[in-house]
Amino acid sequence: MERAIDVRPFVSADRSAVLNLVPRLTIGVAPWRDHVAVAAAVRGWIDKSTEPNGGGAAFVAVAERGVVGFVSVASIEHFAGERDAYIGELIVDEAFEGRGAGRRLIAAAEQWAREAGYRCITLDTGAANSRAREFYSRLGYCEEDVKLTRILDELPDPGRA
Ligand SMILES: CC(C)(COP(=O)(O)OP(=O)(O)OC[C@H]1O[C@@H](n2cnc3c(N)ncnc32)[C@H](O)[C@@H]1OP(=O)(O)O)[C@@H](O)C(=O)NCCC(=O)NCCS
Repeated sequence: MERAIDVRPFVSADRSAVLNLVPRLTIGVAPWRDHVAVAAAVRGWIDKSTEPNGGGAAFVAVAERGVVGFVSVASIEHFAGERDAYIGELIVDEAFEGRGAGRRLIAAAEQWAREAGYRCITLDTGAANSRAREFYSRLGYCEEDVKLTRILDELPDPGRA
């Protein structure tokens, strides 16, 4: 029988298992971005978000074979002046998707945010990351801003209105 997936605070011994999950965070990155550079940036964010006394929190999901998921949460200032809790990275090992790890990791991040007194919790995700967008929608997250990009040396598609 499958063991339940537990969530607990990140400890430094989890670092290499968490870094092994980083390629998953290039899913949904726009094709015109450098995916190698994106993975390097994610590794840097994970190191920053797991620094002791960094001001935020990080949690791992643990299954029968060890660490299979990670989430970090910190704080960001909205331009309207309010400080929001902000989910930096959320990753679940592909082999363990669909078993509730993502939901439990988000619940841990939200609990941290509530206890820290935040009213809102926010995050960014790739427009093409349809799985993550469905997942967040299921968990009650709604779209707040939409970022648009145009590649300047490409002609607009005349078929588009
Ligand atoms: C997005 C991700 C974290 C989801 O993790 P997960 O462990 O598979 O999610 P869960 O099993 O906890 O699913 C939670 C809920 O979302 C739903 N869900 C998950 N994927 C879904 C999909 N593709 N379509 C519809 N619902 C979906 C589940 O059915 C579940 O709902 P339920 O509990 O009411 O049945 C995981 O797919 C992942 O790591 N993706 C790659 C990295 C990534 O995109 N991270 C987010 C970037 S910000």
